[in-house]
Amino acid sequence: MTTTPAPRIAVLYATAHGSTRDIAEFVWEDLVARGARGELYDIDHAPDLTGIDAVVLGSAIHDMALLPEAAAYIRHNARTLDDKDVWLFSVGLGPALRGPVGRWVGRRAPRKIAAVRDLLRPRGYAAFAGCYEREGVSWRARTMYRILGGARYGDLRDWQAVREWSSGIADALALPHAPAHTIHP
Ligand SMILES: Cc1cc2nc3c(=O)[nH]c(=O)nc-3n(C[C@H](O)[C@H](O)[C@H](O)COP(=O)(O)O)c2cc1C
Repeated sequence: MTTTPAPRIAVLYATAHGSTRDIAEFVWEDLVARGARGELYDIDHAPDLTGIDAVVLGSAIHDMALLPEAAAYIRHNARTLDDKDVWLFSVGLGPALRGPVGRWVGRRAPRKIAAVRDLLRPRGYAAFAGCYEREGVSWRARTMYRILGGARYGDLRDWQAVREWSSGIADALALPHAPAHTIHP
């Protein structure tokens, strides 16, 4: 009887303040707990993708775009990534917006992110809520946030949503079910 080797994954992240890294780490831990082999990398130290079956790529959003290092990585490696199973996530404020206007805005990927997503053609794309500290945010940005239905500050991450998304990746990679869930904040 032959056994299929576990898929090799690379989870790559681009972060300015760390919240995207935590989400990438959660996804990576979840996939490894389900039997995948692979590592977590800052996108600036991404490995050669030879032999990697699947790539999960995440970036914080700044100024309605992925961080420049993530967008540049995707552009430079578009051909290589084309041969892989790729999942993309972004971390921003959209999913934390409430009310009819906020939900409408939150559902739409900003134009530049949609362009990168269309280039990458990932098997899945998720927008996750990140962290937003009131301190240091300009009056103008706070007002805009409030108008768009942003009422909360601080750590807005929804770990249940992240867990569901990573479970979907594990299922798509036909990874076996883990005996117990990864514990995370
Ligand atoms: C300078 C700056 C610009 C931002 N611009 C956006 C934006 O345009 N859209 C958005 O949804 N979130 C925006 N955010 C919120 C961040 O994406 C969010 O706080 C995220 O958690 C940051 O991820 P990180 O901790 O990995 O850097 C911005 C944050 C900063 C500090």
